[in-house]
Amino acid sequence: MRLILLGPPGAGKGTQAKRLEEAYGIAQISTGDMLRAEVKSGSDLGREAKAIMERGDLVPDAIVTAMLAKRVQQPDCVKGFILDGFPRTVPQAESLDVMLRDQAMALDHVIELQVDDAALVDRIAGRFTCAKCGAGYHDSFKPTAKVGVCDVCGSTEFIRRADDKAETVSARLEAYHRQTAPLLPFYKAQGKLRAVDGMAEMDEVTRQIRAILGTG
Ligand code: AP5
Ligand code: MG
Ligand code: ZN
Repeated sequence: MRLILLGPPGAGKGTQAKRLEEAYGIAQISTGDMLRAEVKSGSDLGREAKAIMERGDLVPDAIVTAMLAKRVQQPDCVKGFILDGFPRTVPQAESLDVMLRDQAMALDHVIELQVDDAALVDRIAGRFTCAKCGAGYHDSFKPTAKVGVCDVCGSTEFIRRADDKAETVSARLEAYHRQTAPLLPFYKAQGKLRAVDGMAEMDEVTRQIRAILGTG
């Protein structure tokens, strides 16, 4: 199964992708996570991406598309994948279509997580992840069971993203509306677009997505 999770920053793409990865045994591919790993490693690509991401702008299509083309060749993608944060522009979506066609693959679904802009700032501002295992949390919506201790691995170190500052979040939202929202009519025209209520509680969002995907 191959699917795209589409939605603005903070819509819950990463949260839901992790759950679907477990439920269906397919790989989560987050271009944001991949770019953050490049930044952390200090690679040439990471150095180029860092300033762009901290401004809340999109990294050039050519860079992201090349990175994705390599990623989908990995063995963990054989059963399928969940694209989280890609494509983000119409040219990226067109490249993806070509890439899949060349490998005789097809997209099964494009799922839009619909969320009000007003809710996104709160979601992003409260977000943090475990520095050791990457488990995701939120100050109010998903706190750790024991304050300051990761539920999954017991680590006491957490990180907050450099682009989660309020002023950067507005730039990211603007980039979404200007550059990514045009993908909605693009996929609607292909008959692949399905919407779920991203404002619902996390388990309910998962239930709605699984109802669309079926047993896989
Ligand atoms: P990326 O990492 O993709 O960030 P994003 O799209 O801005 O999305 P987020 O990761 O912020 O949100 P999410 O939808 O994953 O939400 P989450 O599940 O964490 O991209 C970062 C940057 O990289 C871009 O700005 C760009 O510069 C670059 N980039 C990446 N891909 C690119 C591409 N293809 N082309 C060009 N540039 C690219 O949830 C958010 C919070 O809300 C969490 O705390 C969570 O616990 C909570 N939450 C989730 N669901 C719910 C719910 N239902 N109810 C209540 N709280 C919830
Ligand atoms: Mg994410
Ligand atoms: Zn952890």
